[in-house]
Amino acid sequence: MMWNDNLKIGVPMIDREHHELCDRIDQLFAACNKGKGRDEIVNTVEFLESYTIKHFGDEERLQHSCGYPKTKQHKAMHEYFKSKNSELKKDLTENGASLATISKTNYFLMNWLLNHIQKVDSELAQYVNQ
Ligand SMILES: [Fe+2]
Repeated sequence: MMWNDNLKIGVPMIDREHHELCDRIDQLFAACNKGKGRDEIVNTVEFLESYTIKHFGDEERLQHSCGYPKTKQHKAMHEYFKSKNSELKKDLTENGASLATISKTNYFLMNWLLNHIQKVDSELAQYVNQ
């Protein structure tokens, strides 16, 4: 399970969305464990493609509304995720979901998300809740 209460940053809307993101990545891992990763992985990156538009948008609107000083840097990280995710999708749809591509994708999604929540989004939450 990726999600646990230690990942809560203290902004309820953002926490709910992070929970959703973690659950979707968990679903992918569960499918991989059942040998169904190939069927699930394109669904996952497509879900992330649309859901992150909403989620990153919500975070960015929150930052603008409270005058957060690191808005630009934070947005750049979101843009990095979006471009990496669409690169992975392109790779999966054009070259097929090989074991190597699946594990590269899983590794990236989990690490980026956990790292981003714990460092970058936590810092935002501290500012919002101060
Ligand atoms: Fe963020």
